[in-house]
Amino acid sequence: MDEIIASTVNENKVYYCARCGAEVQVLKKPVQDPKCPTLLCCGKPMTAKDAVGVTTEKDMDVKEVIKGRYDACAEQGGGEGAACCAGETAANPSFAAEHGLYSQEELSQVPETAFTLSRGCGNPTGFADLQSDEVVVDFGCGAGIDVVLAAQRAGPSGKVVGVDFAPHMIERARQTVKDAHVADSTTFVLADLDKIELPDDYADVIISNCVINLTPCKVAVYREAFRILKPGGRLAISDIVYSGKVDPQVLDRFQSTWAGCVGGAIEEDTYFEILHDTGFADIEVVARHPLASKELEEMACCPGPEFTPAPAKEDIASVEGKVVSIKFRANKPERS
Ligand SMILES: C[S@@+](CC[C@H](N)C(=O)[O-])C[C@H]1O[C@@H](n2cnc3c(N)ncnc32)[C@H](O)[C@@H]1O
Repeated sequence: MDEIIASTVNENKVYYCARCGAEVQVLKKPVQDPKCPTLLCCGKPMTAKDAVGVTTEKDMDVKEVIKGRYDACAEQGGGEGAACCAGETAANPSFAAEHGLYSQEELSQVPETAFTLSRGCGNPTGFADLQSDEVVVDFGCGAGIDVVLAAQRAGPSGKVVGVDFAPHMIERARQTVKDAHVADSTTFVLADLDKIELPDDYADVIISNCVINLTPCKVAVYREAFRILKPGGRLAISDIVYSGKVDPQVLDRFQSTWAGCVGGAIEEDTYFEILHDTGFADIEVVARHPLASKELEEMACCPGPEFTPAPAKEDIASVEGKVVSIKFRANKPERS
């Protein structure tokens, strides 16, 4: 077990290293200066910036709530508004369906359950430039909509791995790939995104659709993505960020319903700083879409109002125009 020393640590909590995800032991010796590089893990001193990645007990509770909500949504097939029988149309279609994130041609290739349960804010396979034979990992695959689309693009000799921490989402995704006849080139890993049992330098591409905003420690998730990508590999991500400052009290209230994809969102500049600091290069924003009020209302109670309470209308109104769905690509350099 690695060791960590920090001025702010609480001996009764569990901490994880942002670099390697290992559980770290808290030493009793206090350090007053938070910039003092005496946080130790992976055999190296950690700087104060690295310490941002330490997951606290609060973060772990947040993850448990998120996992519970998305798992229940998957178990119930999307909730009350969802279609429950093949061929039936959803009374309350998913955000992705309603907002035209996928083309009709793409949707015709996707089984009903994956479509009903899709909770994305973009269409990452649409701008990932996937080639046949590529190895693709989908961070937070949900019920598998993008796994199916990636598998179709990567072909039978490619491979797509869906990662999610909600067991019922993974169960749904397994059925999805069978129904879409791409089970042979797909596989799933039940894991938290900051610690995935996949080898170093494994994937050509990591895609993710409206997931990383949910994670309490984005530094740890992007470090894991960097580790898993081959040198020269790339990211194609859809996510939610804030553009500009949001009233801290409103932010606090959104954070109390973190599972809605607004509570965990951070400012766009900070988001891209994290990518840059992790080592990603050539960050290229493909599209930016500020969410309109109805989109925002739906997004903020993701995966659905039965699972995540909707924020107050005034709070939604106060962030209108400041919550942005972004789509971007970035590369892991050949040499890092
Ligand atoms: C908003 S949904 C998006 C699902 C899918 N990408 C889509 O487009 O339909 C977020 C998904 O990420 C998963 N998730 C959230 N935080 C996670 C974490 N820390 N580790 C693994 N999965 C996570 C949830 O279980 C859920 O399935």
